Amino acid sequence: MSLPDLTIRPRRLRRSETLRRLVRETTLSVNDLVYPLFVDETIETPVPVPSMPGVRRIPLADVGSACREVAELGIPAVILFGIPARKDAIGSSGWDDQGVVQQAIRAAKQACPELLVIADTCFCEYTDHGHCGVLDGEHVHNDATLANLQREAVSYARAGVDMVAPSGMMDGMIAAIRGALDEHGFTDLPIMSYAVKYASAYFGPFRDAADSAPAFGDRASYQMDPANRREAMKEALLDVEEGADILMVKPGLAYMDIIREVKDATELPMAVYNVSGEYAMIKAAAERGWIDERRVVLETMTAFKRAGADIIITYHALDIARWLQD
Ligand code: PBG
Ligand code: ZN
Repeated sequence: MSLPDLTIRPRRLRRSETLRRLVRETTLSVNDLVYPLFVDETIETPVPVPSMPGVRRIPLADVGSACREVAELGIPAVILFGIPARKDAIGSSGWDDQGVVQQAIRAAKQACPELLVIADTCFCEYTDHGHCGVLDGEHVHNDATLANLQREAVSYARAGVDMVAPSGMMDGMIAAIRGALDEHGFTDLPIMSYAVKYASAYFGPFRDAADSAPAFGDRASYQMDPANRREAMKEALLDVEEGADILMVKPGLAYMDIIREVKDATELPMAVYNVSGEYAMIKAAAERGWIDERRVVLETMTAFKRAGADIIITYHALDIARWLQD
């Protein structure tokens, strides 16, 4: 039996680690990472999140030290989520200048001026019903929620935030927030839009961490249907028009195709949110010894970069930063 003519042999470039290093197409850097922080106004000491091993809610008093740890590892940014002492029907603690996130922003900037502080901008943590805005019957009222998002974003800006990240999937939220920030003189404050956010079961553990599960129903009337691809492009392009500075796709792993398509269709930096359920799955398998955590995490992050992400929001950020050092 004769062998085929093998003029082209892709294995030639895989023969040594040095050669593989030379031809590697994608690299992961600590510069790509954003670490989420859950700040709880009602606690004095950190409280572990059971479904997210290694993740804790921290009290306001610990925000400074937590930020210093992140900055010392070379991670450029944190994204803040707040658990307030008081919730009401409209989520008014979200735009209280003395609210938990506003206090956390000031503490973070004081402890670590060079660390970028991003604030998740939504209402599910602040409403007593857990939905991402003002209710009109069982529905979230889009335009009434926009007015509150404007107040919330301006309040975060006054507290000194470096970027706001609206996550509620309200129509027109980017234009509304951009207008309000500009009107108040915050023309240079960037907006990272949760542009393409799916109604995902992968958010489960986060809702324990942030105490933000909807009291009734689900978020399918504002977050996207996981079956839709063309609608993702519509959402992304709308946010570009409305003035978003960075676009996000969320969750990550089940939506790699969407990351790639949005990346190819726009010029903005692209972020991906490697969400709580994705984190929990890796942690659970690693705890059982079924996978090699470090290798699986680094492979996953590299895959986000390969798919087109420039920025990765991940609960693994501290571990990754340490692994990249050695
Ligand atoms: C708030 C918000 C959520 C997440 C980020 N911002 C939860 C949700 O929409 O229910 C999810 C993050 C994660 O799962 O890690 N709107
Ligand atoms: Zn929300």
